[in-house]
Amino acid sequence: MAAEEEKVIGYLLYHFGYDSDGAFSNLHVVDLYVDSKARKKGVGRALMTAAAGIAREAGSQEIIWSVYRANNLATEFYERLGAQRITEVFFMKLPADAL
Ligand SMILES: CC(C)(COP(=O)(O)OP(=O)(O)OC[C@H]1O[C@@H](n2cnc3c(N)ncnc32)[C@H](O)[C@@H]1OP(=O)(O)O)[C@@H](O)C(=O)NCCC(=O)NCCS
Repeated sequence: MAAEEEKVIGYLLYHFGYDSDGAFSNLHVVDLYVDSKARKKGVGRALMTAAAGIAREAGSQEIIWSVYRANNLATEFYERLGAQRITEVFFMKLPADAL
C-alpha cells in the first residue's frame, strides 16, 4: 500500500506464480490502483518498484499482469516503465456453475 499522512492513496495486489514453459517463478500483479488525486506523482512507479523488489528477493525472474485493451492510460504508464506486451497468451473464463 502507498500512504500519505496515514491515508491510503494507492495499492498493488500480487501473488507469486510459476512459468512452467520457462521453468521460473514469477510475480503476478493482480491489481494496481492510485487514487485519482494522487496520480502523476510517482506513486504507481513506486508501487511497481516495490513489487519488483519483492519479486527479486523471492528469486522470481519476472513480473506479469493483464491490462484491458481499452485502458490506454495504464498501457502508456507500463510502457514508460519499460514493460513489454505479451501477445501469445490470452485469458479464458468459465462461469463457476458451468461444470
Ligand atoms: C496507471 C496508474 C496506476 C499510474 O499511477 P501514477 O501514480 O499516476 O503513475 P506515476 O506517477 O508513478 O507515473 C510513472 C510514470 O508514468 C508516467 N505516467 C503516469 N500516468 C501516465 C499516463 N496516464 N499516460 C502517460 N504516462 C503516464 C509518468 O509521467 C511517469 O513517468 P516518469 O516516471 O518517467 O516520470 C494510475 O493512473 C491508476 O491508478 N489508474 C487507474 C487504475 C488502473 O488503470 N490501474 C491499472 C490496471 S491494469
